[in-house]
Amino acid sequence: MKIAVIGAGNVGSTLGLAWAKRGHQVVFGVRNPVDDRYMSLASMPNVVVASNHDAVKGTEVVALATPWSATRDAVESCGILEGKTIIDCTNPVSPYFTGLVIGHDTSGAESIAQWANGANVVKAMNQIGFASMDAPNFPGGKPVMFVCGSHGTSKSTVIDLVTELGFEAVDAGNLEIARLLEPLAMLWIHLAVRQGLGREFAFSILRKHSKEQKD
Ligand SMILES: NC(=O)c1ccc[n+]([C@@H]2O[C@H](COP(=O)([O-])OP(=O)(O)OC[C@H]3O[C@@H](n4cnc5c(N)ncnc54)[C@H](OP(=O)(O)O)[C@@H]3O)[C@@H](O)[C@H]2O)c1
Repeated sequence: MKIAVIGAGNVGSTLGLAWAKRGHQVVFGVRNPVDDRYMSLASMPNVVVASNHDAVKGTEVVALATPWSATRDAVESCGILEGKTIIDCTNPVSPYFTGLVIGHDTSGAESIAQWANGANVVKAMNQIGFASMDAPNFPGGKPVMFVCGSHGTSKSTVIDLVTELGFEAVDAGNLEIARLLEPLAMLWIHLAVRQGLGREFAFSILRKHSKEQKD
């Protein structure tokens, strides 16, 4: 699958390289593609670096991995996103991670759906630290990654991509559920940064019975 990843920072480069390693064609969308700092990224197999506008051309899936304050500009610079699946990995956090700047009756993901008019936004990969996004290896089992979105086919595509990375992907519901997943990410940040848990932990689901038994 051809995947555009907008933003080549911690999250974007981790996810993009993880999918490229698994055989997907990844185009990183960045503000200045000829900047020397992208040379090593561009030399990786299955990877191209381009402007945001060029990155999304011919791609079905666009992962957004920009700071919240830059996300609207990044979305708008992509041009027409109608019909594409957008994986919203962002969190609308305030500077210094003191809290969320949006919530309760809307979410960052729903804002992105308005900016990227006609795109199918799916929230995922926002509830864990970037260092555990590729093949998370936890002795207690697979971390959970809640995925929400209102377009069935796009959500299935994202669930498959998240599963490929090594998560238990759980369909959490429609896009409005991002109102819950963004605070969940804020809880992860709070625990990691303020409560001393560090960054090497993940959320998981424990079940009394296996999924098969329940079915
Ligand atoms: N860090 C985590 O563990 C983590 C986990 C889950 C979710 N998130 C969320 O993921 C998002 C990215 O976080 P991060 O830690 O990867 O941030 P980061 O390391 O600061 O990377 C952000 C990247 O976005 C780029 N960027 C900014 N404006 C852009 C634009 N208009 N077009 C293309 N690229 C643009 C920046 O490029 P420049 O260098 O040119 O500014 C930078 O490379 C945030 O919303 C964050 O809340 C982070």
